[in-house]
Amino acid sequence: MAEERQSEQPGLEPDRLVFGLTAPEVMEDPWPTYRDLVDQCPVTHVEGLVNPMFAMARRDDVHEMLTNTDLWSNRHGSGVAYDKSVGSVQRYDPPEHGIRRRFLRGPFLPRAAAQNEPAIAALATELAEGIKPRGSAELHDDFAVPLPIVAFSRILGMDEDDAHRFKEWADLTTLGMTFPERAVGVRDAVRNYTLNEVTRRRTAVAEAGLPDGVDPVGEVVPAGILSQLCCHPLEDGSYATDDEVTGLVAMMLVAGHETTTSLITNAVWRLLEDRSRWERLVGEPSLAEQVIEESLRFDPPVLGNCRTNNEEITRHGVTIPKHAKVLGLLGPANRDPELFEAPDEFRMDRPITELRRHYSFGWGPHFCLGAHVARLTSRVALETLVEHLPTLRLAGEAERLPQPFLWGRHRLPVAWD
Ligand code: HEM
Repeated sequence: MAEERQSEQPGLEPDRLVFGLTAPEVMEDPWPTYRDLVDQCPVTHVEGLVNPMFAMARRDDVHEMLTNTDLWSNRHGSGVAYDKSVGSVQRYDPPEHGIRRRFLRGPFLPRAAAQNEPAIAALATELAEGIKPRGSAELHDDFAVPLPIVAFSRILGMDEDDAHRFKEWADLTTLGMTFPERAVGVRDAVRNYTLNEVTRRRTAVAEAGLPDGVDPVGEVVPAGILSQLCCHPLEDGSYATDDEVTGLVAMMLVAGHETTTSLITNAVWRLLEDRSRWERLVGEPSLAEQVIEESLRFDPPVLGNCRTNNEEITRHGVTIPKHAKVLGLLGPANRDPELFEAPDEFRMDRPITELRRHYSFGWGPHFCLGAHVARLTSRVALETLVEHLPTLRLAGEAERLPQPFLWGRHRLPVAWD
């Protein structure tokens, strides 16, 4: 029973069953607290945020949360606040969710995603060769931030020259998921930018005066999701509203960029932390795909997502009132010994089919649309670093992102000979 728990873990207050999501010790290393939650307190309260919240730590509960859409709704958003704004695909429940997901999925399918590889590889090489003469770099700023922009900009059909703004907005948007008051203004900035892009496209289509039946996307407006949303109806005949388009762009800034940067920095950090791992990869670069998947399992860039329950439920002796915000923790689910042998060990050569049972891209109907793109970008990142900077080593303290739901290095000083 949760009430009988005896934990001394810093992230838990035994008498009140409170999980200190933002406690400094938990921010630094959440895994000991996760283990304690799983063993002794699988449903707990989270306090200190804008709303009181619950957290679930056991894999079967998290799995149910991600797959049972009758009980667990996404319509209040995946962050801490009850967000009523019309948003991205992630905000919808069935059947509206499926309509939007089918509309968007084309550029994310494996073959379409693979078409981005030459451009990603070219930028990765340019970035690595650009820093090489310096002998040292901040791998987050100089490599892992700019690289995911290629696929993100191409899929959305946005201008790569605006990349510096995307990064700033992504940082503020993610901070706003936990601390909404710190992101005031960013929503307006993203909205204004996106509406401007939408107006440009609509004007270009109107001025082109194309005959009926000719698709303007890729002809008079750039290819990509943004133009499709402006020009093509959904399968129910409706068009995405301006609110939906701006909501989607805001969500993709976080989902499509920040997370991939974290995957790259987390993977390089773990490899350099024990440098024999890095040396092994230099000798066997074909391990890059498995290393990326193990990094996803071991260090999930998204530590958890919120859902809202449609009815009161009781789990492990704790009653959760209807319409609560409940955080499903993906990190502990990835270290379930029933799924992975020695789950607390970072292994470079676990079989890929076994590895893909992790929860880092979610599970079920909302499974990450960008998973192929993220895997591809990060694999290319590792292959490029191994080839161009084989003597890479850590050159200072790595620092984690300040957002408690996200797990990535936002400082990663490195050097090479
Ligand atoms: C390592 C990188 C990434 C990680 C760890 C990640 C993680 C996730 C997770 C956990 C979810 C499920 C959210 C939920 O269940 O509520 C999700 C959904 C989503 N992701 Fe990703 N993501 C990554 C990269 C990307 C990229 C590169 C894109 C697009 C360019 C993307 C687009 C999306 C979208 C659109 C959804 C919503 C899908 C839906 O609701 O049907 N993600 N992602």
